[in-house]
Amino acid sequence: MRIIITGAHGQLGTECSTVLSKFHEVMPYGSAELDITNLSQVKTTIRQTLPDILINCAAYTDVDGSETNKETAWNVNVGGPRNLARSTEDYGTTLVHISSDYIFDGATTPPQQYREDDPPRPLSYYGKTKFEGEEAIRALTDRHIIIRTSWLYGIVGRNFLNTILRAALNKPGETIRVVNDQYGSPTWSYRLALQIAQLIELQAAGTYHASSEGYCTWYQLAWLFLELLEVPHAIVPCETKDFPRPAVRPKNSVLENNRLTREGINVMVPWEDDLERYVGTFRETLIAKARAPQ
Ligand SMILES: NC(=O)c1ccc[n+]([C@@H]2O[C@H](COP(=O)([O-])OP(=O)(O)OC[C@H]3O[C@@H](n4cnc5c(N)ncnc54)[C@H](OP(=O)(O)O)[C@@H]3O)[C@@H](O)[C@H]2O)c1
Repeated sequence: MRIIITGAHGQLGTECSTVLSKFHEVMPYGSAELDITNLSQVKTTIRQTLPDILINCAAYTDVDGSETNKETAWNVNVGGPRNLARSTEDYGTTLVHISSDYIFDGATTPPQQYREDDPPRPLSYYGKTKFEGEEAIRALTDRHIIIRTSWLYGIVGRNFLNTILRAALNKPGETIRVVNDQYGSPTWSYRLALQIAQLIELQAAGTYHASSEGYCTWYQLAWLFLELLEVPHAIVPCETKDFPRPAVRPKNSVLENNRLTREGINVMVPWEDDLERYVGTFRETLIAKARAPQ
């Protein structure tokens, strides 16, 4: 199959490019080559390349930044998917789009998990744009797969784990406070890319949840990550109220991979197993990156 990947140099875009190019003809576009907010550029690229599939890994992912940079967040996370849906529909291309656990309000308590048909009620502007992006796609094309995921990490780009490791290595002995009352499922971008490959192969359609199995708090994630890396640390748990941020996060954004499991196509694994594999594979690179000047 011919596959376009947008946002191809981000965390997930990079993994999708690597995983899918083993089996398909992949055309990876970074934001400099294809700006999803530019409708005529999107149309021209699709007309000229006629892909079977377009995977949209492009997004404005700064959750706190979205509270102030509302126009950019909206243009990328709602306008972008709308442009892609309009253009893919015209050329018979299937649109694969990535959405977020932050479309839910998190008012439930684990082990309760959100299913695909639970009502969204985003608390943050970022969450609102991610939900509106989904809705724009549903309104414009039936030829879509929307995949909601959560707490992504990977070897490319910046994420929570990089931040924690940098703090532990560069300020040894200094207390690092990490929120211990927000629950989610940390998901390795490589694992998600494998799940996306599977969904494409099976010509799936509609909305799916795809996160690691199981859940934890940010504190539990940081603790296990540093333990696996054998990095000495002084992390301590704190509450959300001790660590005020511009965007309100859901207290519980654990997603249930309900459709994947029901259809027998769930390749997601427990979050601890993937974290261990990730650390085992990238230990030296992770430490070198965290020690490098920013
Ligand atoms: N990260 C998470 O924890 C998380 C959790 C749940 C869901 N998600 C969703 O998962 C998807 C992938 O996230 P990620 O972590 O891989 O994000 P990421 O690393 O921030 O990558 C996003 C990419 O989008 C590109 N981009 C931004 N504006 C663009 C535009 N106008 N046109 C084309 N490309 C543009 C960025 O390129 P530049 O850097 O060049 O601007 C960047 O490479 C997103 O839809 C995100 O909302 C992420």
